[in-house]
Amino acid sequence: MEAFPHKDYAYIFFSLTTDQKTLNYSSSKFPIFDELYNNEHEQVVICSDPDTGLKAIIAIHNTTLGPSLGGTRMWNYESEEAALRDVLRLSRGMTYKSAISGLNLGGGKAIIIGDARTDKTEALFRAFGRFVDGLGGRYITAEDVGMTEKEMEWIYSETKYVTGIPKALGGSGNPSPVTAYGVYMGVKACAKKAYGSDSLEGKKIALQGAGNVASSFARHAAKEGAKLYISDIYEDKAKALVEEVGGELVNNPDDIYGLDVDIFTPSALGGVINDDTLKQFKCDIIAGAANNVLDEEDKHGQMLLDKGIIYAPDYVINAGGIINIASELEGYDEERALNNAGNIYNTITDILSYSEEHGIPAHKASNALAEKRIETVGKIKNKYSSNAHVSGRFGSMYKRFID
Ligand SMILES: NC(=O)c1ccc[n+]([C@@H]2O[C@H](COP(=O)([O-])OP(=O)(O)OC[C@H]3O[C@@H](n4cnc5c(N)ncnc54)[C@H](O)[C@@H]3O)[C@@H](O)[C@H]2O)c1
Repeated sequence: MEAFPHKDYAYIFFSLTTDQKTLNYSSSKFPIFDELYNNEHEQVVICSDPDTGLKAIIAIHNTTLGPSLGGTRMWNYESEEAALRDVLRLSRGMTYKSAISGLNLGGGKAIIIGDARTDKTEALFRAFGRFVDGLGGRYITAEDVGMTEKEMEWIYSETKYVTGIPKALGGSGNPSPVTAYGVYMGVKACAKKAYGSDSLEGKKIALQGAGNVASSFARHAAKEGAKLYISDIYEDKAKALVEEVGGELVNNPDDIYGLDVDIFTPSALGGVINDDTLKQFKCDIIAGAANNVLDEEDKHGQMLLDKGIIYAPDYVINAGGIINIASELEGYDEERALNNAGNIYNTITDILSYSEEHGIPAHKASNALAEKRIETVGKIKNKYSSNAHVSGRFGSMYKRFID
């Protein structure tokens, strides 16, 4: 008997090519093709399996540079439209993140609609794994919000197109140390721009959050002689880190924004650069691991520029995580992953120079450089190479996918 009878499965593909000039269809409730066309998404796959309760959406934004890669998020979305909008937004972000990081990967993301505390079953994730597998490598998944190694293992039992699997299974394991090293190198690049030297010796750094990435970052910075001011909503975590690396405890987490420091390193939440905090910052540099730190990207990115604060775009400086899992595709080697994450120093340097040259905020400079790479590398595909299918990005580089 067929394990997955067709009647129980629904694959719905929405696809379009970016050179398609006209789209005739749009729905008044949710103009799906307009939405895909405007943001240049290539493909969206709706995955439904009533037996396991799986409702998932996989969005592939752009595969010019290579197979799309991005995590799977499990979240109880308030509506299907909210879920679709989220996966479209996140997959687009992954295209930019991989492109600016010099990776031969495109942008993709998946969401599973459900409660991560109550709706997880082996069958649901294995069903999802089959959908991922059905895309034949156009989308490679990874861990994101609401997921743990356990679910990634279930997905891995149905498809090889998974990264971020445990070390015991040949994967890269916890990405935080590599992310933290990338953040450390990115902060040094900002210091070079601000002070003419990338040394963090004697620099005062306010660290928001004392979690996985922040702790590892703090060890690098403290070793170099930085003075750390550490906060966390869980005081015991901040205290433990202060005891380990030295520095000062910031008792009230909200005081972190107004400290008289050189560098502010957000390593907890998004949205922390906003109208309110911008009035408080006294620092020269904002550079840290947290995602989506600009509350309103264009407005607050511009305000940072106007205030003369050097900003390392979040998705660039925290790319150590994806650099780590991309390294897994080539046969994981921690030293190589760290080395590649160290290149964030050069990427941030280039972005800050471009920002200065063009008088635009750093996040815009970063987007422009990412788009430029996609465009220029995309053009070389016009040249015929008989080995294109086995060399470079699609072939020997991704050892994991060679049978
Ligand atoms: N782990 C990675 O490899 C990685 C990769 C890319 C981006 N990031 C981003 O970096 C950030 C940190 O990730 P992590 O893996 O270290 O998470 P984590 O959960 O280990 O640490 C986050 C810490 O922030 C604290 N926190 C929450 N709200 C706070 C507040 N208002 N003030 C002070 N502290 C607060 C939490 O208590 C926690 O200790 C997140 O935004 C994450 O999305 C992480």
